[in-house]
Amino acid sequence: VFSQRLPWAQIPNRLSQLRAEKRRSGASVLDLTESNPTRAGFVYPDILSALADPRGMRYDPFPQGSVEARRGISGYYADRGVMLDESRIVLTASTSEAYGFLFKLLADPGDRILTPRPSYPLFEHLAALECVHVAQYPLRYAGAWHIDFTALESAATPGTRAIVVVNPNNPTGSFLRAKELARLEEFAAARNLAILSDEVFAGYAHVSDPGAVQTLIGERKALTFSMNGLSKIAGLPQMKLGWIAVSGPGTREALERLELIADTYLSVAAPVQLALPKILPCAGSVQEQVLERTATNLARLRDLLRGSPASVLNVEGGWYAIIQVPRTRAEEEWVLTLLREHDVLVQPGYFFDFESEAYLVVSLLTIPETFAEGVRRMVRSIES
Ligand SMILES: Cc1ncc(COP(=O)(O)O)c(C=O)c1O
Repeated sequence: VFSQRLPWAQIPNRLSQLRAEKRRSGASVLDLTESNPTRAGFVYPDILSALADPRGMRYDPFPQGSVEARRGISGYYADRGVMLDESRIVLTASTSEAYGFLFKLLADPGDRILTPRPSYPLFEHLAALECVHVAQYPLRYAGAWHIDFTALESAATPGTRAIVVVNPNNPTGSFLRAKELARLEEFAAARNLAILSDEVFAGYAHVSDPGAVQTLIGERKALTFSMNGLSKIAGLPQMKLGWIAVSGPGTREALERLELIADTYLSVAAPVQLALPKILPCAGSVQEQVLERTATNLARLRDLLRGSPASVLNVEGGWYAIIQVPRTRAEEEWVLTLLREHDVLVQPGYFFDFESEAYLVVSLLTIPETFAEGVRRMVRSIES
């Protein structure tokens, strides 16, 4: 009776089995993968009172999202020097839902979407749920990450509808360069492809770099959708509010169609829409705390790995760092050994589809004491 969209039977892998064993035995594991900001010890301004607006008791749906909420988003961007008219915004319950809306808007079952590799591991599932295929284009590392345009261009077949960019990317932390954007736009415009720009980590640049593209909101040569949401901007994934900003040729028609999709679900709750103009001004305080945390952990990571056989890849932004470890063992063996023998949990590069081994991914949101002790144990394990 069930569809074939997803491989529904989730076979536990060796890592999930070992994690379950550790949990059962009551071991105290240093979790270096924590990427839930609400569990990372940040202090949030009062947000709950903003959710108690009495107007939330009335059902008055706007498929695109309420005007006040969309104005709040325009205001957030205006404070950062980006002009975005509220008429170009569509609210969603999350960025993940935004992907779902955009795949429905752009692709028919069997069509293709190009996604970066390595990157966010949920694309396969998000696409499969819309019966869309994913084809990956590689990012290559040479001291910094770059799009392999030859591979990207040859991955675009007649059934390809869109190119996804994650800016900055998860977990590589790499920003798109202005030159890369220009080439991407030329190609997308020439092939009539849309660009989907996932900007959830855009507020988390580690250094200010004028060559790094901050957002694709603005004048565009190709139809472009910039996605973001409270989940990362304000460290509030539980509030369930994201958005899509539309730019470039075809914007009006895309907005009309997106409105129809949004109208079919009406998924964004009224209280969070009403609260949004009060929540967004708090985002800066959360971003500051996160940036301080990521800077502390990154500096500590570099310090602790200095002189060891492992090294940190260059990271420009975001919540993660990538550690290259010796290929004396398979990635999976590194991760299993760290957990089994040292009670340290990290993610293997293959979770993010790294093309080669051996990489470990750690979350820079981790509480600093936990992070430092976990890395110390990792270094000991690698050196032994
Ligand atoms: C690159 C990227 N995009 C989107 C999301 C999902 O965000 P949301 O909580 O808004 O669905 C994540 C979550 O980790 C992410 O890393």
